[in-house]
Amino acid sequence: MLSKYFKPGLLEKIAAKAGTPVYVYSAPVFLKQVRAYQKAFKALDPLFCYAMKANSSRGLCALAAKEGWGADVVSGGELYRALRAGFKPGNIIFSGVGKTPEELDYALKAGILFVNAESFEEVLELEKAAARLKLRAPLSLRINPDVDPHTHKFISTGKLGSKFGVSFEEALKIYVYAAESRHLKPVGAHFHIGSQVHSAGPYALAAGRLAAFMLKLASRGVNLKYADVGGGWGVKEGGEMADPAALAKAVAGVFQGSGFRVILEPGRSVCAPAGLLLGRVIYRKSGGHKNYIVVDAAMNDLVRPALYGAKHPVALVGAGRGPEKIYDIVGPVCESGDFLAQGVRLKEPRPGQLLAVYSAGAYGFSMSSQYNSRPRAAEALITGPAAWRLIRRRETYRDLVAAEK
Ligand SMILES: Cc1ncc(COP(=O)(O)O)c(C=O)c1O
Repeated sequence: MLSKYFKPGLLEKIAAKAGTPVYVYSAPVFLKQVRAYQKAFKALDPLFCYAMKANSSRGLCALAAKEGWGADVVSGGELYRALRAGFKPGNIIFSGVGKTPEELDYALKAGILFVNAESFEEVLELEKAAARLKLRAPLSLRINPDVDPHTHKFISTGKLGSKFGVSFEEALKIYVYAAESRHLKPVGAHFHIGSQVHSAGPYALAAGRLAAFMLKLASRGVNLKYADVGGGWGVKEGGEMADPAALAKAVAGVFQGSGFRVILEPGRSVCAPAGLLLGRVIYRKSGGHKNYIVVDAAMNDLVRPALYGAKHPVALVGAGRGPEKIYDIVGPVCESGDFLAQGVRLKEPRPGQLLAVYSAGAYGFSMSSQYNSRPRAAEALITGPAAWRLIRRRETYRDLVAAEK
């Protein structure tokens, strides 16, 4: 259970100093997942590009950068933050279905490893940007391998009919075009089949299709260097990442000894177990057949339960009173969808008591908003048994209006 990494006394101290709601991350847990990947993939020696979208806080990203990881970014903003966090430009790849000409310019000027383009029109835009800058743009294509990852429909991306990537047929045409362009340099091919993928089978299938395609390209004189198999390795809410050995076996089974350099883009599996969201109980109430605990953290802080039906384990920090009851944990936002957990069994908390929502390190803060004009939460990083620091201050009311004219 993740709670062993987050000692109640330390959580109390962090909340007392930083206020609530606050995201609390553990550097040791984050690094444990990073090293589990490195160990599992040792023989293949891939380049790991941490998917910034899962959690782009500098405090965490810098840990990955120090381990020699690169970054997978999906916007100019993420690229900016990746550079600021210390990722080397030559280890950064730029994915995403709708990069603007300005973003492509920025990426080329920064000297990133390559752009994962997702359409012919984007490739033409990249070519124009490279011509303006008088260089050859390193190009990879996101290919939709038409593989079902068996995950939630909102995070399934590898089947034809999703907006992501291009078909193998289309990719062939684009690579042939790119190989002849003075301003494009095809260097890689990419897929990302989805997120919360819990078995290696879909990766083996997609990797096999990608490898066969890359060999076909080579036979036509288009020699790629990088095989980017995306991210998406699943992690169960409340637990640490499952050993990625099965994933490593599937990928190595296809690419070991192939001469292609493998790239992986893990996000969630690295940072989800490393974080929790800490809120304070404001009120208890009962209505109809339900008991509610109203906390000061809400869907604007953590939208995953409302968006995907994600089930985060919750626990009181410190003891509760009396027998256990079934509660919905809700926030102050004016939406029925504003809940952090439903139907959870807890002892009764006292007002002011802290409540921890586990497995919140990924797609938590990075998806947070100021909805209901709630300033965004603070973020704290635990660095040792009793050591922590604030890595992002709580936003203020002034921050809410800072960009307004
Ligand atoms: C292109 C790409 N790479 C990597 C990831 C990271 O996925 P995960 O956080 O599930 O590992 C995503 C997530 O959406 C993605 O779209």
